[in-house]
Amino acid sequence: MAISRESFGLTKSGIETYQYIISNENGMKAVVSDFGAVLVQLLIPDEGELVDVVLGGSSVCDYEGNGCYLGSTVGRSANRIAGAKFTINGQEYHIPVNENDNNLHSGPDVYNERIWKAETCENTEGDSVTFSLDSPDGDQGYPGRLQISVTYTVTKDNSLKIHYYGSSDADTIVNLTNHSYFNLAGHNSGSILDHEVWIDADYITEADGHAIPTGRLLAVSGTPMDFTSPKKVGLEINRTDYEPIANGGGYDHNYCLNFYSSEAEKQEITLVASLKEPNSGRVMEVLTDLPGLQLYSGNFLNGNFTGKGGYVYENRTGICFETQYYPNAVNEPSFPSPVLKKGDIYDTTTVYRFKKN
Ligand code: GLA
Repeated sequence: MAISRESFGLTKSGIETYQYIISNENGMKAVVSDFGAVLVQLLIPDEGELVDVVLGGSSVCDYEGNGCYLGSTVGRSANRIAGAKFTINGQEYHIPVNENDNNLHSGPDVYNERIWKAETCENTEGDSVTFSLDSPDGDQGYPGRLQISVTYTVTKDNSLKIHYYGSSDADTIVNLTNHSYFNLAGHNSGSILDHEVWIDADYITEADGHAIPTGRLLAVSGTPMDFTSPKKVGLEINRTDYEPIANGGGYDHNYCLNFYSSEAEKQEITLVASLKEPNSGRVMEVLTDLPGLQLYSGNFLNGNFTGKGGYVYENRTGICFETQYYPNAVNEPSFPSPVLKKGDIYDTTTVYRFKKN
């Protein structure tokens, strides 16, 4: 339908950044920036109104040096790598330690604070913006030059489709995710604890006190982790008598998605989770072809980000559905492997689809 471009402000080092507004014929809009390939706004049409359902900032200044990952494209490897080290083809690699003894989200030199190259495209499926990044050999400590792109498409059926595509000139890890915090009542409407969550996953990866998987899977049945039937996210979020909840400070866990089959040559994009806001009846469905989903209830948000319109995001005012390879998968042979072989293509899609119920 239409794509327009506006300034997103100057970085601290004086580089001009832009935001792109992608719309469909129903009036849905996604605003994405070449700074970090972040999703800044996601405006969903509802009875003549547009509701912005993601937390975000007003300009680039809000995003630089902020560790909340709002709307961020996280890579080269999202989530945690134990001991900040791994071995590929017999060679040990060390990446920076930035959380306990581990690495989180490939920081500190994160992809979500780089300037990505933007290209717009109008096609029949919907209009899109593709952001590309050339990540050299040794970048963040990873082997191989990775050339990667992220395409945001706003489709006719009110979906935001995020397609990741790339290749490397040496075997490496690739595990990109989108770290949007959703609030279907609107980004500035407070707690998400009333939202209902469904996740098609019978297991989570069991983790230690620092959120590093033990290698075992934990059945969710009969525990506060169980979202196999829709449940208010706030119902058991404070069950600190239950160790995984106490360790995560709420939900901050990797769900092992039921559909995923390690035997299949290609995974189909499958409906794996949903979020519903009971007052408005707004629903978001999550579809992916990846094996895991980090459910993160914004436990570390605590007024440390002042967002759009000067609204301050307090604790648990947004909820993330980060599709991914399991945390620390590179060091756990029983987990689906996040290693991209030289000559292979990294090609994965996650869709956030909006409806009303
Ligand atoms: C991920 C992690 C959380 C937290 C956020 C960023 O979701 O799993 O523990 O670090 O990123 O605040």
